[in-house]
Amino acid sequence: MNFIARLLSVGTLSLSCLTSVAAMTVPARASDYPSRQVTVIVPFAAGGPTDTVARIVTAQMSKSLGQNVAVDNRAGAGGTLATSLASRAAADGYTLIAGHMGTHAAVVSLYPTLNYHPKRDFEPVSLLAGTPIVILARKDFPPKNLEEFAVYIRANTERLNVAHAGIGSVSYVSCLVLHRQLGARPTGVPFSGTGPAMAALVAGEVDYMCDQIVNAVPHIKSGAIKAYAIAMPERSPSLPDVPTTAEAGMPSFQARAWVAMFAPKGTPPSLIAVLNAAASRALDDDNVRSTLQALGAVIPPPEQRTPGALADLVDAEIDRLSPVLWQAANSTAHIDSPWK
Ligand code: MLT
Repeated sequence: MNFIARLLSVGTLSLSCLTSVAAMTVPARASDYPSRQVTVIVPFAAGGPTDTVARIVTAQMSKSLGQNVAVDNRAGAGGTLATSLASRAAADGYTLIAGHMGTHAAVVSLYPTLNYHPKRDFEPVSLLAGTPIVILARKDFPPKNLEEFAVYIRANTERLNVAHAGIGSVSYVSCLVLHRQLGARPTGVPFSGTGPAMAALVAGEVDYMCDQIVNAVPHIKSGAIKAYAIAMPERSPSLPDVPTTAEAGMPSFQARAWVAMFAPKGTPPSLIAVLNAAASRALDDDNVRSTLQALGAVIPPPEQRTPGALADLVDAEIDRLSPVLWQAANSTAHIDSPWK
């Protein structure tokens, strides 16, 4: 006699009791969890920044959880395709998603008919990394510095193309804001992630891109691509020779991104706590830290790794990005380019 039948045999049951029965099919006891492989969906192609951060962290989480935490890359529609899928996955702790500033904040402003909402449909697990934005170009792109880059892309905007990972992606959002500030409207070339976009940039098939630092450091260091500036108040220790946008004369362009782990809404808090603890242990691991920091990722301090802190970040980013993106998407005038 299965569990439900046995319960039903002991007389009448209240509705709340029934729902608790249903809940018990999800292993609420954290001690039982995980009892099999956990899947983390990455909504972009392998090899890109989201994939890189997710794989480094989940490899360590597998060790402490005693079960494989596998990455499943599913790209499309700026990451919204897989994120929507994840929002409808079973809330049993076995399907998670590595989302970011795009999939869990910017898309709210860019997709009026989005079929998920970052707050309504997801449980925050943990922030994994801050990923500063760098302005990149193919190695033979004529401009020598950010000022020349600004003047050049405005003067040649009709014949230039910019790579991105789809509407709503970090690369799309960051360059949308940059173009609005500089008054440029190049042709956007979408890819399934900035992993493949980077390959096209290295091959000189596209002209430039705004990307998360973790995807760019090795290619900048090898000289395979150019980096004009990092859109942060201070330089990255991983790229000491790359100036900040302020140092390069454009303090108005500041852009940051982040990668975080989420679970479907309704995933029991006891399981979120197990996952959060495993993610935090991974971020304290020396190898994980040195690998991420060598790629320029910013590791969040413990107080920024809580589910509550991530929930607050998502709120703040949705609020921060909506006016910026509305303006960038709807106004032609460029207001604050330092170079005319
Ligand atoms: C990726 O992992 O490919 C990126 O996060 C894409 C993006 O958002 O630009």
